[in-house]
Amino acid sequence: MNEYSNPASELLDLRFRDSDFEFRFSDLGFKFMTIREALSLLRKELSAPLGCFAQPQSEEILQFLFNCSRSELFLSSDRSLTEYQKDQLFHILKRRLKGEPLAYILGKTFFYSREFKVSKSTLIPRPDTEILVEQVLLNEKQDKARFVDIGIGSGIISTVLTEERPQWRALGIDISFDTLKVAKQNISKAVQLLCSDLLSALKSSEFDFLVSNPPYISGNEMNVLDPEVKDFEPHLALYGGSDGLYFYRKLASEAGKVLKKNGRLYCEIGYNQQDSVMEIFMDAGWEDLKITRDLSGHPRVLRAVLRKVWMTQ
Ligand SMILES: C[S@@+](CC[C@H](N)C(=O)[O-])C[C@H]1O[C@@H](n2cnc3c(N)ncnc32)[C@H](O)[C@@H]1O
Repeated sequence: MNEYSNPASELLDLRFRDSDFEFRFSDLGFKFMTIREALSLLRKELSAPLGCFAQPQSEEILQFLFNCSRSELFLSSDRSLTEYQKDQLFHILKRRLKGEPLAYILGKTFFYSREFKVSKSTLIPRPDTEILVEQVLLNEKQDKARFVDIGIGSGIISTVLTEERPQWRALGIDISFDTLKVAKQNISKAVQLLCSDLLSALKSSEFDFLVSNPPYISGNEMNVLDPEVKDFEPHLALYGGSDGLYFYRKLASEAGKVLKKNGRLYCEIGYNQQDSVMEIFMDAGWEDLKITRDLSGHPRVLRAVLRKVWMTQ
């Protein structure tokens, strides 16, 4: 099992057929349905494919339909769904039972206790990336800073960092224009966006630090990815070259051109990549390498300092 696997979705029944769905729910269209009944229906339908995620995802669907908080949902459990809400509910359920991630169906998800818009052109933010954000906040104590976020995706890292440190300014880079359109909806004025292949569009610059959660899934791992990831999330956001290390090699050799002297780099890494990534950065002359583990005990974030003067290669 690789780190993008979701144990619950191993149970996903992808043999599900549309006609079964229409048949099973055809008579429900005529009935009143309260929030309590809708919750029970969703939980029942989602429990086989999602296991323990069925309850929270059922609640999330109803919160979306009623645009309300969890407590409001339970306080109004006798309220009926409108015809439109019932249609929406069946539509969402149908897509979810086909394996589409809920974040894409609802067009939003949570990261660092904040809501972010997402689309099929962005990676769905992962909780592990909070460790990366925390490491930056722990290590970078200065009030003012300029940093670059490589592979900004939906904008989660730059948004959280500039909200936590209002005087920081960011440049968010992504190669995908569609991804940047989503990021634009999430970021504040403190973050600028640039469409570029890594740092190629920048001549030289003076950033205090660089942060990145690059694609790092290897060719072999791509073949065994969970269907929810493989069939729905963008290949561009996942694939890190045949050995998964392409972006670390590029960053190790190129990041120096945009950093100030003693500039820092913070990168998320795959759970099995610690030794290879450390070797890549040491060979490229980075110093003070430090790895932080995630809550499961896996190596997750690299911090490195570039003390040598960077030479154009
Ligand atoms: C793993 S996702 C991370 C997204 C976001 N930062 C997050 O943590 O959720 C990697 C991102 O890198 C972008 N990307 C892939 N290749 C790139 C390249 N050559 N230059 C710039 N960005 C790239 C992808 O489009 C994707 O948005």
